Amino acid sequence: MLILGIETSCDETAAAVVRDGKEVLSNAVYSQVEIHAPFCGVVPEIASRNHLKKVLSVIESALSGLGLDEIDAVAVSNGPGLVGSLLVGLSTAKSIAYSRNIPLIPVNHILGHLYAPHLDHDIEFPYIGLVVSGGHSILYRVESYTDYEMMGSTIDDAVGEAFDKVAKLLGLGYPGGPVIDRTAKNGDPGYMDLPQGLKNNEKDRYNFSYSGLKTAVAFRLKHMGIETPIDPATAPESVKRIVPDVCASFQKAAVDALYHKTLNAVTDTGIKRVTLSGGVAANSYLREKFSELEKRGVSVYRAGLEYCGDNAAMIAGRAYADYQSGREGDMSTEAYSRIAMIRKGKR
Ligand code: KG4
Ligand code: ZN
Repeated sequence: MLILGIETSCDETAAAVVRDGKEVLSNAVYSQVEIHAPFCGVVPEIASRNHLKKVLSVIESALSGLGLDEIDAVAVSNGPGLVGSLLVGLSTAKSIAYSRNIPLIPVNHILGHLYAPHLDHDIEFPYIGLVVSGGHSILYRVESYTDYEMMGSTIDDAVGEAFDKVAKLLGLGYPGGPVIDRTAKNGDPGYMDLPQGLKNNEKDRYNFSYSGLKTAVAFRLKHMGIETPIDPATAPESVKRIVPDVCASFQKAAVDALYHKTLNAVTDTGIKRVTLSGGVAANSYLREKFSELEKRGVSVYRAGLEYCGDNAAMIAGRAYADYQSGREGDMSTEAYSRIAMIRKGKR
């Protein structure tokens, strides 16, 4: 079954063609990162307008020679995300499905991320799935594609959001994850002793907290007499010199918390398989840190780097799994029920 996936929930316009949830024939991503960088975050109105500009050419490039008549179904992210952005993907996907009279499969964006490691690996159930992105930090216990539960999540900021906010404090620009990852390679992770968020008490055994960590970095810098946000154009050499050390210390605290909570989940459930996905799963220290689990006999399945950030291959893959298991997806509103009828051929 060939599925065309479409993803426009935030600032990536993406389309992909995936066969049977596994074989990625194409994975086209147009990133708006440079457009939003001057604002140090995603501006929703600008995001929707750029999706509108790009969505058709990105779909064309994903089809790369295939005709629409060769596609068996269309999958699309239907949330969570920016509503104006989601609408661009949804209406495009709806039009294609309607005109071709093929199924339209709505996909939850986070479940798309959770699926991403399956694109590269054959993973047996059950497993513990860690999804870490700019909007979410969630630990799942996954029994099957349709049977999963959230064990824990962030109680405030998402971990990717913390990377973005700390990068802003340090004058490193947006998005923060990749630049902190790169800068930290030349820094000393022992430079600053930072809190790892929530303690290991019973209530928060699988939960995360990141707003305090960002504030801790700001306070430490203030105590050192460093004003934030740092302006790289005017900051003295002595300040610029410690930026890699701060990046490494922050990254260690942020990632070690993810590791410890995942270890709690593995220990408590006895499940010896872990998946890593979402934009932050591209982090090189995170990918390396989880090899400590491998040393404890746990199989760790990292999403491929091209499937960590927002992409449509994970959406098409997830859609296949949902469709095979006869799931209708989340079509609870009037507009979606119309789509459901189209899908059932009752239009
Ligand atoms: O999954 P994603 O593309 O979008 C959301 O669904 O949020 O994740 C984006 C997030 C951003 O916060 C970005 O800073 C972070 O992923 N990120 C990273 C890295 N690459 C992207 N965080 C840490 N290290 C990285 N290498
Ligand atoms: Zn995402």
